This record gives sequence, C-alpha cells and structure tokens, in this order.
Amino acid sequence: MRGVSDTGRYKRTMHELEEQPTNDTAQPRHEHLVLSFVRRSGRLDARLQRAWDTYADTYLLPLNAGEGSLDIRDDWRLTDDWIRSTWGNDHPLIVEIGTGQGENIVAAAAQHPQTNYLALEVYDPGVAHTMLRAGKQQLGNLRIAQINAPELFAKADTATVNEVWTFFPDPWPKMKHHKRRIVQPALAEAIHRALIPGGLWRIATDIEDYALHVHEIMDARTDFRNTGDVTVSLPTGHVGKGNADLAQDMPHADFVESARFDGRVLTNFEKKGLDAGRVIHDFAYQAI
Ligand SMILES: C[S@@+](CC[C@H](N)C(=O)[O-])C[C@H]1O[C@@H](n2cnc3c(N)ncnc32)[C@H](O)[C@@H]1O
Repeated sequence: MRGVSDTGRYKRTMHELEEQPTNDTAQPRHEHLVLSFVRRSGRLDARLQRAWDTYADTYLLPLNAGEGSLDIRDDWRLTDDWIRSTWGNDHPLIVEIGTGQGENIVAAAAQHPQTNYLALEVYDPGVAHTMLRAGKQQLGNLRIAQINAPELFAKADTATVNEVWTFFPDPWPKMKHHKRRIVQPALAEAIHRALIPGGLWRIATDIEDYALHVHEIMDARTDFRNTGDVTVSLPTGHVGKGNADLAQDMPHADFVESARFDGRVLTNFEKKGLDAGRVIHDFAYQAI
C-alpha cells in the first residue's frame, strides 16, 4: 500500500511542474531527449485530489525512477511475469499512449473484463480523472503508469503486448516542433518489438498534417502492414502553424487508412476536431 508520503510525492511533482515554463519551447528534462509533452501545471482541484488519494494505491503503478520523475526505474522491464503479477492473469494486454482523461481506456476496460489495460499519461489531472472513472466502476483490469510512454516500450520484452493505441496525439503544429510528435521511427521500432506477431498499433488524428506524418513514418516500414482499406487524398507536403491553409493547393496523393475504430469512444479531443470541420484519420498497423 502506498502511504501518505507517496501521495506527497505527486504533490511535489505538481509543484515541480508549476515551476516549468509553460510555453511550447520549454526545454526537455534531458538535453538529449526530444519530448512529446511539455511539463505544465498539474494542479488538482479538491475532487481530483480526493480521487488521487482514494484510488492511487489501486490503479497507479510504482514504476517511476524517483520522486516527481516521469522516467521509468532502471531495474524495471515489461515482461510476461510482470504482467501476470500485476493483473494476476495471462489475459491479453492493450496499452494506450496518452490516455488524457481516460474516456477510451476506461470504457474499453469496462466492456472487456477479460483483457488487461495499461494507461500511460504524464499529466496529473488526466491521471486523476482516469483513476476516478475506473474507481467509480471498480474496474479490476486497468492500471495506470504516469511515465513518458516511449520509455515503457524501450523496456518491453518481445511479444508482450497485444495492441497499442495512440488516439489524438498532441499535434505539435509548428514545423520546428514536428520532431516532438510522438509517432517516430524509434517508437515504431520499440512498439514492433513489444507487440505480438499480428498485434496492432492503432492511431487516430484529426490533424491532416499529422496524418501525412504518420504515413511517412509508418507506410514504408517492412515490419508493419497498413491494414486499412479506405483511400484518402492528402497533400504531399508539410504545413505548419500559420500556413495550414496552403495545404489544399498543394499536390495531393492517395493514401490508405482505416475505417473508424469502433472500440473508440468520442472524446472531447475528437469532438473538438469534428466541430471544427476536421476529418478524422484512423490507422491500424499490424506487426509482421
Ligand atoms: C491531445 S491529448 C489526447 C488524449 C486522449 N487520447 C483523447 O483522445 O482524448 C494527448 C495526450 O497525450 C499525453 N502525452 C503526450 N506525450 C506523452 C508521453 N510521452 N507519454 C505519455 N503521455 C503523453 C498528453 O499529456 C495528453 O494528455
């Protein structure tokens, strides 16, 4: 059981986060790492703090390297034994990267009690919301790790994960920030190793330029197969914040994507995209 001092650990995390610059040019914690998130204020209101205090022992996994760290402990690995000891069974494991407020993963976990779910999220309020949703339904098949997601896959044994989900990743619209997008070759390689043969990496985005980015990173890979059957026309050049309008006049080409994943509930992020008239792009890449 995690005690009061450990809850304090996350209170300290929030203070640390408050001290970080909040603009999107903030320096990553490690000079050598390009991070897909900005450390920002993680202040919890009384309701979320209560949820944290009530449910952290049940849902939050103690994988962090130290107080306030979003790194994973050096001695930890994602293995079949760890899955068995954490969930108490050998059920398939689905990992969601960037679970936000947890709408998707909690709905899925409630619907599929014979599947294990692992939520990865760095932002305190998101973690607290996810615990609150899971706790209200007394879900036993969901766990949450507050860590930088690529680190988890870098520490995964081969063939330990059945599916990986990345829905509405942070868009990083400025050209100079495209490198901070979480879908990158190194992550694809690590996810491929973690997935069982035939396992899926599902991705969804409402940002056209991010859809092109996903195709560029994923379609030419020989270790994944794009399982889609929907033809989508996209500009073949990148645009950034401020010149997104240019995209429609650029040369276009056809790409293959997937129908909407029916295991995804409509989150605020997807709704905002739809309300703004954006098209949702779904992808399902299968590990070969
Ligand atoms: C735009 S939100 C989408 C949330 C959710 N998937 C949805 O559809 O509602 C992206 C989320 O990814 C999280 N995130 C970004 N980089 C991450 C990382 N490296 N590890 C874990 N979570 C990350 C952010 O904190 C944020 O909550």
